[in-house]
Amino acid sequence: MFSISKQEFIFWKKQQLSKGGDQQSFAVLLDCMGGISTHDLNLISINPEGNLLLKKNLEFLESLWEQHLTESCPIQYLCGFTFWRDLKLKVTNKVLIPRSETELIVDIVFNIFRKKSEKLFFAELGTGSGAISIALALAYPLSQVVATDIDQDALEIATKNYKNSSIQSNLKFYYGNWWSPLENFKGKLDLAISNPPYIPRHNYEKLPKEVKNFEPKIALLGGEDGLKHIREIIQKAPLYLKEKGWLVLENHFDQSEKVKQLFIKNKFTSIEIMKDLSGIGRFTIGRYK
Ligand SMILES: C[S@@+](CC[C@H](N)C(=O)[O-])C[C@H]1O[C@@H](n2cnc3c(N)ncnc32)[C@H](O)[C@@H]1O
Repeated sequence: MFSISKQEFIFWKKQQLSKGGDQQSFAVLLDCMGGISTHDLNLISINPEGNLLLKKNLEFLESLWEQHLTESCPIQYLCGFTFWRDLKLKVTNKVLIPRSETELIVDIVFNIFRKKSEKLFFAELGTGSGAISIALALAYPLSQVVATDIDQDALEIATKNYKNSSIQSNLKFYYGNWWSPLENFKGKLDLAISNPPYIPRHNYEKLPKEVKNFEPKIALLGGEDGLKHIREIIQKAPLYLKEKGWLVLENHFDQSEKVKQLFIKNKFTSIEIMKDLSGIGRFTIGRYK
């Protein structure tokens, strides 16, 4: 541990932020590598007297911050971790960094199934770091969760994240294309959830370099119109859901009406478009008959 005066730390922090970057990324660096949480930062600003303890010295933290700024590499990949809901998740450039807007997808499930003690059967398609599935498995300890991904590296990271977050064993990971690893669970799911790759090709080419140059293309690109994977997931969902089972999908900011039409075409009912915190129709939900 490295002891440093709070005054010196505040001055150093200001200096680093004046070089560029955003507060949120800097907070991730301080929390993951320095051991200083946002709560600690608030306490330091209320009482800037005395010393604090850092897990790494200022030179080390500064070198990561400069690498982040010069190479446009996401700070989460440089630190090897990210925070999502109340989870601390390992991330490498083999998985998408779970986004804050996706956090709400878990609250949508909480609203559908209010009793946490129910025995339910959930599936997540395209689990990446495992964020959504782990949050669901922890919140519904008596339920079973199965999660798929087409990327073996992502599944390895998701498995590690689950082991680090829980001593439970109600989440299992499966390798393969969307629904195909779940043949044995046909007609058994109470809910399937997915944040699939949904960026249309022309938008993908224009993504900021910190996304395009570092995050896996397979996690982002949704074919020509962005709906390639969403279409496949919706079309096959009726085979896997129980009667009245739910499908919950995240989509791109301008896709919700099109996704709603796909739900209707595939005979879903109770269809709703749900907004994210910016007021964007980010999620589409529906029940199979
Ligand atoms: C947008 S990322 C979402 C990751 C994670 N669920 C989250 O919300 O942060 C999409 C995920 O789908 C996976 N994926 C892409 N194509 C797939 C396919 N054909 N079958 C299964 N998973 C796929 C990617 O590897 C990636 O992990």
